[in-house]
Amino acid sequence: MSGLVFCSILLLITAWSIGKLLEIYWWKPRKIQKLFMDQGIGGPPYKPFIGSIGELAKIYTKARTAQSLPQTSETNLLSNTIPLAFPHLPIWREKYGSVYLYWYGRQPRLSISDPELIKGFTSAPRKYYQSIQHPLIYNLIGQSVLAAGGEPWNNQRKFLNPLFLVESLKNLPNLVVDTVGEKIETWKSLMRSNELEVEACKEFENITQDIIVQIMLGNDAKKGLQIAHLQTEQTAIASKLVKIFYIPGTKFIPIPLYQRSKRLRREVEMKFHGIIERRLKNVNQQENDWLSLMLSSGNMTKHQIIDECCAMFIAGSESTNILLAWTCLHLGINKMWQDKARDEIFEVLHKENRPLVEILSRLKILTMIINETLRLCPAVPFVMKHAQEDIKLGELTIPSGIDIEVPIISVHHEKTIWGENASQFDPSRFSEGISKASKHPMAFMPFMHGPRICLGMNFAMIEAKVTLAMILQNFDIYISPKYKHVPVGGLTLKQGSGAPVIFRKI
Ligand code: HEM
Repeated sequence: MSGLVFCSILLLITAWSIGKLLEIYWWKPRKIQKLFMDQGIGGPPYKPFIGSIGELAKIYTKARTAQSLPQTSETNLLSNTIPLAFPHLPIWREKYGSVYLYWYGRQPRLSISDPELIKGFTSAPRKYYQSIQHPLIYNLIGQSVLAAGGEPWNNQRKFLNPLFLVESLKNLPNLVVDTVGEKIETWKSLMRSNELEVEACKEFENITQDIIVQIMLGNDAKKGLQIAHLQTEQTAIASKLVKIFYIPGTKFIPIPLYQRSKRLRREVEMKFHGIIERRLKNVNQQENDWLSLMLSSGNMTKHQIIDECCAMFIAGSESTNILLAWTCLHLGINKMWQDKARDEIFEVLHKENRPLVEILSRLKILTMIINETLRLCPAVPFVMKHAQEDIKLGELTIPSGIDIEVPIISVHHEKTIWGENASQFDPSRFSEGISKASKHPMAFMPFMHGPRICLGMNFAMIEAKVTLAMILQNFDIYISPKYKHVPVGGLTLKQGSGAPVIFRKI
């Protein structure tokens, strides 16, 4: 008798489990797919457990084979970034249009590259969206402003705003001048026959990290650099593992790199705790940096401050570093624009007879070049959010639980928006300002739009302009014959085989 009861219970549990599995991996995805199909939105078909990952893998494997083919001519060298870094984007765009649904495992993801819908997405009330929660991203930036959503994000953004006011950034331009000035002297001292090949990614990583640690930690910058190096390793791990983690069950496997990621997080936290404890003990010691601003605000817990510092180390150095490296590569190929930018710098400096930091807003050509680089190679190629509630975007209804992705890079390369030469480097399209550079005034979005627009946009532009202007004042830039165009897309758009460039003294 008891055996019969046991068997019945076992049968019930098995039936319930099968039902649950069917619901999660079959019925629910089918229901969501139908909901979108009824609204005219297609996409690659859902496959149980793997979603669209199989389809993505096929596309990426084919693209990798194509990468081993000889590279195109020098002037076109950098023009095929999307097919190399995100080969699925043009294929799915052509097949399914500017809005489509695909599946990361069983997680539905709506890709939107229509600027009008993106405008609606960025301006929708923020309580609707949450950032994507992911254990690797947590290890990198905790619950910082970059990761938060809804009301907590609102408060965090309010607390951080003062760090980015003109007053708080007033020392930034001179700090960049000093840091880059030192680098330039080092490069000059290493030159043979007036030229030097540098690995731009490495050099700009040093520069941007030096700057962000000094702005954030002032006298504790040396300790900050150790943290920045740990965070660089953490980013590399996140970029490697982030895609694997969408395969169901992966987070329960003790992957050595993931264990390393958790250890790095603990080490970074401990180092920050040390710095903060010392600051709290020496309250009379005047410090003029972001950490003291956050500590004195009285609004943030120690844990929150650590999370924000972690995020700022990443956001504040990685993306500007990438931008600077892409700009040097583009200038190395486009000698005409390089000469124009340099002529303008010397002309304005000569006419105004003021230091470089005071004439930044007058460097129109350099700004156009930076914008064109951000358009073709946006350091942050995607933005992704999770719908917490049902959302209406124009005619489109998006149920809660969907990830919404904005492929910034796709919008930036769209011929219907930017014209037939969309994939070519042509800074002149920005000659009448950003809003007139394309057919849609908001199609240029390297820092995104709306309430979640990048907090460090001005910071990044000041840093990039000063650094590039100083390099152009001192050197001709050439792309090294060793350069291989292997753009790698992940959280950022990196130069997969590095960015070797040659600086020649002028
Ligand atoms: C070329 C350089 C940069 C690019 C292309 C860039 C791009 C972006 C983008 C696209 C976002 C929106 C992310 C999202 O909504 O998920 C963002 C957010 C953010 N960025 Fe940047 N960024 C750059 C430099 C910086 C710098 C230098 C800092 C700080 C020093 C910074 C701090 C932030 C912060 C704190 C946010 C979060 C804003 C929020 O969610 O409210 N960024 N950035």
